[in-house]
Amino acid sequence: MLFSGSSHEELAKGIAKRLKRSLGKISIVSFPDGEIGVQIQENVRGKEAFVLQSVARHPNHYLMELLIIVDALKRASAKSITAVMPYFPYARQDRKDKGRVPITARLVADLLEKSGVSRVLTMDLHAEQIQGFFNIPVDNLRGSSLFVEKLSKVKGTVVVSPDVGSNRIARKFAEDLNVNLAIVDKRRVSAKKVELSALIGEVEGKVAILVDDMCSTGSTLQMAAKVCRERGAKRVIAVVTHGLFVDFKANPYLDEIWVTDTISPKEGASFGEKRVSVAPLFAEAIASIVSAKSISSLFERGKKEFLGEERS
Ligand code: R5P
Repeated sequence: MLFSGSSHEELAKGIAKRLKRSLGKISIVSFPDGEIGVQIQENVRGKEAFVLQSVARHPNHYLMELLIIVDALKRASAKSITAVMPYFPYARQDRKDKGRVPITARLVADLLEKSGVSRVLTMDLHAEQIQGFFNIPVDNLRGSSLFVEKLSKVKGTVVVSPDVGSNRIARKFAEDLNVNLAIVDKRRVSAKKVELSALIGEVEGKVAILVDDMCSTGSTLQMAAKVCRERGAKRVIAVVTHGLFVDFKANPYLDEIWVTDTISPKEGASFGEKRVSVAPLFAEAIASIVSAKSISSLFERGKKEFLGEERS
């Protein structure tokens, strides 16, 4: 049974449609004091329950809502509960890199497990090591694979990692396209400002494809696109799995942005970005989990059935 939290019902419906079933009945209300009330409105005893919640934009509210839904399912005797989290929150707080800071990604993992989640299904975790914060299975789908087929048609490309942290995801993308990789050396000055010092690799005369797991304020893409242009790239395309687009401003150095719908586009900026839906991939992953089939084949490129859902 697939239930939806209130963060991204459109995606939940898209997944349910692919699975040829309707969403589970659930009531979610806000009490006058701001507390959240939930009631599962059908029998879940002995059932495998999946709850979709993309914990973005209002992460604290949606996380609490997810925990409450999971608690309700657990107390209603669901056999297993999978948290389907297309965007996993607080993933950038995954280590103690200065004194007296929390490891919030670990805290989120603990809260999910404690509430009763038995499996997590997510996409392009900011750091794959976050899987190790859990003692339950975590399936981490690869969102950027959805763009490979479309961008392999562009000639004369080079893949550019906009910072060292995105190196892994960008390298895999470069391997899929069979083109070279360049790397930007980003230095973050504050949460909203980044500085660049160098670009390692060749982009002159090429179409540069920036590959990142997420775009928040857009500063990283802005600076990386600028440096690509300064080094002679003739066009710059960005490929991003999670489009948070917080205070996102048009970027004169970027010609195109491709993004998935792991985060609801409703509240974000609309600036002509091209969207690809992750619904088919998540539906296939859920079907594989239920029938205990391997999902590693979903990470491979060229699965055409996942690639058709483009929207501008
Ligand atoms: C950083 O390590 C991430 O991969 C993204 O590059 C970053 O979080 C994007 O943030 P912003 O758009 O605010 O620069």
